[in-house]
Amino acid sequence: MNPKDFDAVDIIRTKRDGGTLSPEAIDWTIDAYTRGTIADEQMAALNMAILLRGMDRAEISRWTAAMIASGERMDFSSLGKPTADKHSTGGVGDKITLPLAPLVAVFGVAVPQLSGRGLGHTGGTLDKLEAIPGWRAELSNDELMRQLSDVGAVICAAGAGLAPADKKLYALRDVTGTVEAIPLIASSIMSKKIAEGTDSLVLDVKVGSGAFMKDEARARELAETMVALGTDAGVRTVALLTDMSTPLGLTAGNAIEVEESVEVLAGGGPEDVVELTVRLAEEMLAAAGRPDADPAAALKDGRAMDVWRRMIAAQGGDPDAKLPVAKESETIYAPADGVLVELDALAVGVAAWRLGAGRARKEDAVQAGAGVRMHAKPGATVRAGEPLMTLLTDTPEKFDRAKEALADAVTIAPEGSRSGRRLVIDRIA
Ligand code: URA
Repeated sequence: MNPKDFDAVDIIRTKRDGGTLSPEAIDWTIDAYTRGTIADEQMAALNMAILLRGMDRAEISRWTAAMIASGERMDFSSLGKPTADKHSTGGVGDKITLPLAPLVAVFGVAVPQLSGRGLGHTGGTLDKLEAIPGWRAELSNDELMRQLSDVGAVICAAGAGLAPADKKLYALRDVTGTVEAIPLIASSIMSKKIAEGTDSLVLDVKVGSGAFMKDEARARELAETMVALGTDAGVRTVALLTDMSTPLGLTAGNAIEVEESVEVLAGGGPEDVVELTVRLAEEMLAAAGRPDADPAAALKDGRAMDVWRRMIAAQGGDPDAKLPVAKESETIYAPADGVLVELDALAVGVAAWRLGAGRARKEDAVQAGAGVRMHAKPGATVRAGEPLMTLLTDTPEKFDRAKEALADAVTIAPEGSRSGRRLVIDRIA
């Protein structure tokens, strides 16, 4: 069909009435929207129709391909080593990328981790790393390739050239109540990852109060959709469904999450952060053809720390610099004796955000030292009056709103109670 034969209103009506969009109609829609021929209100209506009616596998695959075609595709084949990447759908205290990228690079697998900044209650990887004095998120494609070749791991900002259609579409979805459509989420994430050019990809799809997907069935559907998209595009793709009902580790913020990541790279750190880092590394290494690698050993013996130091220094950061510390702190104490059975991820994420660790609008600045330091996690026995959390900020007027967010965050049950939490819920391949 000639492009002139398509009409945005017909396409909206087709989806509104439960029909299937043809490959040509999808290509035309994405291209016309990126160029500004389809108006925002028409695209908003189509997004809502997709949210309500869904898309089949062929439609999602074509929609993703059209978004990839809207921009550049990177190619790492000249590196002469396999590449692997990880994407997390976002959670509270989720600093896993920081130890994971250098850990996987230890084994000769290049990790091009193109990341974003945080919005809302989930933190952004770049915001965390920017707490390190001198560290620079923006790299040119040449710098990215050189660092992948020399160091093996890069965590940097995704350039504007990758899937520009998605940037425009995501901003529109954000203000029209259409972020939650699984076909749109899956195609948004996977268009960027496929355009990035990685050989293999491990998806960490979070489930629970602090996650994008609160219930397991929807998280599973999202994971299955993304694995199918990656596989169809020739990227070896695996997903883990992991728990996000409580924060990962004992910190939610920027500098304090870097500090905890460095503890993990030094062979210590909280058990859950170590477990998930090692599990995701095993998946990435297996997908990249290194199934016998032992990432747990590389955390313990300092090899991952060596790569981390080189990776930070290559981007202008000083791995030995003192990290920023918040000017003010306030402690929250346990109200009773017993077992901490719940520490709600969303509440902690919102509190960290309100303290200044996150941003409400894209252009807001974040405070490097702000956040929530936790002193106990679900499963711990606590005594009345013991510190449970320390709130950190440079702007003490924010304490009250953060404490409001935490009002119902903690559940303490009689001793002997258990908090049945499984960190890795399932694997989808
Ligand atoms: N992250 C993305 O990149 N896109 C979405 O649609 C949702 C989360």
